[in-house]
Amino acid sequence: MKTILISGGGGYLGTYLTQVLLKKNKVVVYDEFFFKWLFKNRKKIKFNNRLKIIKKDILNVTLRDFKNIDIVCDLNGIPNDPSSELNKKHTWGVNYYGRKKFAEIAKKAGVRRYIFNSTCAVYGFNKNTVNENSKTNPLSTYAKANLKAEKAILKLSSINFKVNILRNSTLFGFSQNLRLDLVINIFVNSLINTGNIKVDGDGKQWRPFISLTDVSKIYEKIISKENLPSFVINLVAFNSTIKNLAFKIVKYFNLSKKNIKFVSKNKDPRNYKTKSKNLKKYLGNIKFTSFNNEINNLVKGIKKYRIKSNTSTIRMKFYKRKFLNKNK
Ligand SMILES: NC(=O)c1ccc[n+]([C@@H]2O[C@H](COP(=O)([O-])OP(=O)(O)OC[C@H]3O[C@@H](n4cnc5c(N)ncnc54)[C@H](O)[C@@H]3O)[C@@H](O)[C@H]2O)c1
Repeated sequence: MKTILISGGGGYLGTYLTQVLLKKNKVVVYDEFFFKWLFKNRKKIKFNNRLKIIKKDILNVTLRDFKNIDIVCDLNGIPNDPSSELNKKHTWGVNYYGRKKFAEIAKKAGVRRYIFNSTCAVYGFNKNTVNENSKTNPLSTYAKANLKAEKAILKLSSINFKVNILRNSTLFGFSQNLRLDLVINIFVNSLINTGNIKVDGDGKQWRPFISLTDVSKIYEKIISKENLPSFVINLVAFNSTIKNLAFKIVKYFNLSKKNIKFVSKNKDPRNYKTKSKNLKKYLGNIKFTSFNNEINNLVKGIKKYRIKSNTSTIRMKFYKRKFLNKNK
């Protein structure tokens, strides 16, 4: 049984991934727990006897935190473009400096593999479909800080310290620590509550997506293999225009196109498609989950846990309150 430390393991992806990895591993969740579900429910989840919690800022990490840790999964930091612009100094301090320092100390402590969760936002605007060999073009503070951290952490890789950079598409799917500021989750929640969807601009903008289920499957694969080298992989299950996504989701709810409102004044300049050359090369074929299954679980979860739009589910609201002391 391996011991895995998940930094940022109390967040949206982390809450889901922790429970998946606990099935076969010991897990240490290292997080400040800005979002509380996992911390509050740590004694109730399955296999909790294999779970340890370190409630701490990543900037305060020490060698001792990595005692007996085989693998680190780093999901930490400010998680999107708009929140990263609220306090740029903080974003650089956590997403670049903090995550780099975390990896340096992990290596010193003898951790063997470091899986760094990054973002496809490092490619920025691009007319062509990007893969891992495409030129990066980070536009936001979030993308710039993450790319600089990627480079610094890749430089640490050696025979005894393998580094795997996973550039995630926009995530979707249910987690008890749900985010309601990610487009698919927003659409589903909006249909549940209002019966309508609002699309920014004309909806012709393209975006890559992957579910929490599939990302977790990929983590399990990497963790189960002993001899994988260091690499950079784009995590993408499918690309879609926002308009087609909205069509698909209203169809799931047995509603029609009339339930989609296009807000032309809200232009959305982000437009890119992603594919991966390295996913199959290093990890073989991945059987991606069915879209409708994910939507099904999302609908059930939102209703069961009565999840609402607030500072715990909208990162911009949370970080605005934290940095600007604005209670909205
Ligand atoms: N959600 C997406 O669509 C998406 C897409 C691409 C990449 N990513 C990346 O995946 C990772 C996870 O994303 P998420 O959606 O789960 O984000 P999240 O905000 O839910 O999780 C981040 C976690 O980091 C913790 N954290 C933040 N600052 C900290 C600090 N200084 N010290 C200790 N803990 C701290 C928070 O408490 C939170 O639990 C992030 O690195 C994000 O950039 C996410």
